[in-house]
Amino acid sequence: MRPVQAPFPITRHRRARKSAAIRDLVQENTLTVNDLIWPVFLCDGEGVEQPVASMPGVVRRSVDRVAEAAREAADLGIPAICLFPYTDPALKTPTCEEAWNPDNLSNRATRAIKQAAPDLAVMSDVALDPYNCDGHDGFVREGEVVNDETVDALVKQALSQAEAGVDIIGPSDMMDGRIGAIRDALEDRGFCNTMILSYAAKYASAFYGPFRDAVGASGALKGDKKSYQMNPGNSDEAMRLIERDLREGADMIMVKPGMPYLDICRRAKDTFGAPTFAYQVSGEYAMIQAAAQNGWIDGDKAMVESLLCFKRAGCDGILTYFAPTVARALA
Ligand code: PBG
Repeated sequence: MRPVQAPFPITRHRRARKSAAIRDLVQENTLTVNDLIWPVFLCDGEGVEQPVASMPGVVRRSVDRVAEAAREAADLGIPAICLFPYTDPALKTPTCEEAWNPDNLSNRATRAIKQAAPDLAVMSDVALDPYNCDGHDGFVREGEVVNDETVDALVKQALSQAEAGVDIIGPSDMMDGRIGAIRDALEDRGFCNTMILSYAAKYASAFYGPFRDAVGASGALKGDKKSYQMNPGNSDEAMRLIERDLREGADMIMVKPGMPYLDICRRAKDTFGAPTFAYQVSGEYAMIQAAAQNGWIDGDKAMVESLLCFKRAGCDGILTYFAPTVARALA
């Protein structure tokens, strides 16, 4: 129930904004380090940190370096890290078997992180795009991204990640039926405590551009992803997808991208009350960094404001490339 208030001047709303102490006292939503999942890019080699040109401040890290970065993230209190591999183009094939190679980059990094920072939760990405010479999240057959054959491959990929020690499986592929298939396979193999954070409402977005550079998929991608990712004009459809994924065994759900889709976050939280996450994607990060580098906005303030808005929209947490920076700012 909304409290009924007396009219001005009995009620002066500015009283509640008078000083920092009063503002803090009545603040409704707060961003904390516990809300952060840090997406990181992996590459081959040792001692490697390669800057990603379209994402100032973001690097690809070799396994040894990501293990170090994971330890630092854990020391900052960040609860989870999410892995995205830059796959050697020579390993990309139409059949994508590198995706379930127990020794692929992502699985090696998972094991190294689990050793370096055992308490940090590791999240993985389930989709074929890092391994697919077509750059698509699923198999391409006669110009079409095929669903059921892709789901079989995603199950193998998810199982290899669970075996490597991943805590949270993150299917970002948008195929139909993959959550149920992955959940069944995890139960069968005894991974009954492995969580699934489903990218349930993932839109076909222009804001993924810098990410595709970071994982080396932009050159490879043929066409667009509109036959599986959502139409940005839709909201009811997002509710149907979230409901379906929760019913199939997702523990948590994601809305992606973040800031242009805050209405979807709020609606998802109000409708289902499930753990709800938003992905502040590469293009959102790049916009803030580019404007800040030009002196057009205050980067630190824009960062915090851009993350707090997800809490206000009902999210339990945010995947953000700002995670270590904002964790330091909040400390
Ligand atoms: C692909 C995937 C994408 C992102 C995460 N997983 C890109 C895409 O769908 O093309 C984007 C993340 C970002 O832009 O930061 N499975």
